[in-house]
Amino acid sequence: MRKNQLCFFACVTLCLWAAVTYYLFTHRPMSTKVVDSAFKVEDNIEELELRLKKQFADNEQLLNRLKDIIKSPNEWKGDSPSEVVPVPDNENDVAVVPVVEVKPPQEESDDELKRVRAIAQRQLPDGGPVIAVLVFACNRVTVKKCIDQLLKYRPSAEQFPIIVSQDCRHKPTAEVIAAYGNEITRIEQPDQTEIEVPPKEKKFRGYFNIARHYGWALNETFFRFSFNTVIIVEDDLDISPDFFEYFLGTFPLLKGDPTLWCVSAWNDNGKVGLVDENAPELLYRTDFFPGLGWMLTRDLWAELASKWPPSYWDDWVRQPEQRKNRACIRPELSRTRTFGKVGVSNGHFFEKHLKFIKLNEKTVPFTQLNLDYLLKDNYDVQFVKQVYESPVITYQELKSGSIVHEGSVRIPYHTKDIYKRTAKMLGLMDDFRSGVPRTGYRGVVSFMYKGRRVYLAPTANWKGYDPTWS
Ligand code: UD1
Ligand code: MN
Repeated sequence: MRKNQLCFFACVTLCLWAAVTYYLFTHRPMSTKVVDSAFKVEDNIEELELRLKKQFADNEQLLNRLKDIIKSPNEWKGDSPSEVVPVPDNENDVAVVPVVEVKPPQEESDDELKRVRAIAQRQLPDGGPVIAVLVFACNRVTVKKCIDQLLKYRPSAEQFPIIVSQDCRHKPTAEVIAAYGNEITRIEQPDQTEIEVPPKEKKFRGYFNIARHYGWALNETFFRFSFNTVIIVEDDLDISPDFFEYFLGTFPLLKGDPTLWCVSAWNDNGKVGLVDENAPELLYRTDFFPGLGWMLTRDLWAELASKWPPSYWDDWVRQPEQRKNRACIRPELSRTRTFGKVGVSNGHFFEKHLKFIKLNEKTVPFTQLNLDYLLKDNYDVQFVKQVYESPVITYQELKSGSIVHEGSVRIPYHTKDIYKRTAKMLGLMDDFRSGVPRTGYRGVVSFMYKGRRVYLAPTANWKGYDPTWS
């Protein structure tokens, strides 16, 4: 009996334990983690709902704007940037502005995109390269002067298709460009929002706008239209008759020599009196990026595009991190000249220096010349020999004309101040960018003085540029 009682008691306890365990298992309370994530999901759904509503509102706004534009295309005019400088009437202005209907900016149709891509990838009968000419325009109707010269001197429309990219939504300029019809491809920088500029740099807003335009237009040209090579031209440049021949002739150098990253049409010290007007065929290597009519490849753009700066693009390009010791080809006699007295930088520099640049007039058949002397391995040996075998003289001796020696001479410098002082006395540009003097190669600046070749040169054991020189 006692045994039975014990058994019964054990069974009851076991059942009770099983019941309690079952109850706990089926009714266990939710962990705080699960509760949290349930709330999170709810939050996310709410946020998504909000975003969708905002997107709908934005789309509706956009649709209304497009409807307005379609209703009255002639009235279309974007908000012009507040600091755009109006171009006054001067001798460079275009007298007759053609009246044409300018359509609002829009993505080109698929057909148009296909057409431009086909141009970019076309195989030319002679196997030569297709090189796009990308003209940057903003609010100066004088862009006509530049485009007219490009059309006049271009040897082939197939080889050098012209793209004009406009910023600023300046209607008279848009009309001038549109008047060229199918002779050019017209694109427009779509983002006209005001860029956030640090308070101290407010007066340099123009440089931020230019950098944004450059970044956008180069992406379009290389990555959307698929051009392999581009010559960049600004809307205030005159070009020489052999501008295209110069770029075509130097193209193989740019492709073949990895220590070159650009070909420029510009000589920063190319003023009358400082250049040899009898040597239009003479070309140089330079460590100083000149810009102002220059050719680059898609490979270089792919490298720069991802880190493109918000402003002062040209000085940024000149920094060692970008340049990586690479050089550009530049001519003795400039193949471009700027007539942009009124522009983003002030006219002072123009009056003092830019307007004296000598534009080459004689055509040189660069494509038929052997330019191998410009390849680094050939050039450096020859250049160093030529410069450092030239006898040393002082500025005073040069000025007084007392040198009996016939050929080239060398004026040494070993400090920044001596360089600057001597350059100023000679009428050369005396500034540095990232430690490199304008037109400098291995620190050497080459120029003419009263018919004689002169090298302003660092000591022969030169160890490289000092970026603190400015
Ligand atoms: C100077 C340089 C120029 C360089 C620029 C940026 C010289 C002689 N010129 O410009 O090569 O690109 O600094 O550091 O050294 N533009 C726009 N959007 C604007 C304003 C201008 O796209 O809001 C375009 C112009 O159409 C032009 C180019 O940018 O093609 C340069 O403008 P410009 O007004 O000529 O300025 P610079 O002082 O010559
Ligand atoms: Mn300019």
